Amino acid sequence: MTLDHLKTWADQPLDPPARLAVIGDPVRHSKSPAMMQPAIDALGHSLQYVALQVAEGAVATCIDLMRQADFLGTNVTVPHKFAALEACDELDESARQLGAVNTILFQDGLTYGFNTDGPGYVRAIREDFQIDLRDLRVLILGAGGGAGAALARQCALEGCERIVLANRTLEKAEAVARDCRTLYRSEHLEGPMDRILAIPLEDLPLREQLEFTDLVIQATSIGLKPTDPSPLSPSLLSPHLLVSDLIYRDTKLLRAAHQAGCRIANGQTLLLHQGALAFTHWFGQEPDLRAMRACLT
Ligand code: ATR
Repeated sequence: MTLDHLKTWADQPLDPPARLAVIGDPVRHSKSPAMMQPAIDALGHSLQYVALQVAEGAVATCIDLMRQADFLGTNVTVPHKFAALEACDELDESARQLGAVNTILFQDGLTYGFNTDGPGYVRAIREDFQIDLRDLRVLILGAGGGAGAALARQCALEGCERIVLANRTLEKAEAVARDCRTLYRSEHLEGPMDRILAIPLEDLPLREQLEFTDLVIQATSIGLKPTDPSPLSPSLLSPHLLVSDLIYRDTKLLRAAHQAGCRIANGQTLLLHQGALAFTHWFGQEPDLRAMRACLT
């Protein structure tokens, strides 16, 4: 569906009515409708969760139209998470701290923005690797991009022992490092200056840092296309690493990491938990996770 559908919504009612959505560009391949609908149905609600294709520049209009059309809320995906933040009346602490909104709730005429990606990732790491994010030394590939920067900030909030921010454009990682230092919360004795570091996405600095890393978070857009190469040279991988790729299927990086003896996880567990937390904001109760998991492969 598109913004035009939303403009003529009242003339073409859906049955059951659309009251939740994911907005993005592109959005056609989003797994969110297939994942969220069974959980909504399990609650006994007669409403549809739809995917809305929204072009850059039209986010505020779209959010306004959804509010007028009695939507309960929406998920927001790439590339709209910053524009969505601007369009909200109120922001929760996560959205403010992570600098992006992936979940919106419409209530009493107001637009509330949340970020469930960061908290969802904490849950995902616990599920994937049976360990807490805060106990890990992390290295983020693509820390200057939208997803990488949000998770970098979450790692700072968790007080991770070490946070290495790797990015092709070093200045972007350095800017994220500055934000992370102001957010850093930890009982650790040394200050954040010693623990948060920006490096270029190049073999030599990566090799140096990987020795002191437990978890590699792959947050670049490399791997979105199945033909994409691995953003990390396989020769840099060693078996002590946990490797988490935010892409929703096994990538070349994950296959190489598995071969190197690393424990691996793709982005599906994050998809699940950010969705579950969004659901809780909308309905005030946790969803049936088993129903949501069924669409994930
Ligand atoms: P955003 O998430 O900010 O919209 P993006 O273009 O989707 O940006 O890129 C996400 C991340 O992937 C960024 O960290 C980007 O690096 P730059 O900040 O240097 O652009 C990274 N990225 C994309 N393509 C890349 C490539 N070919 N090599 C290395 N990193 C790449």
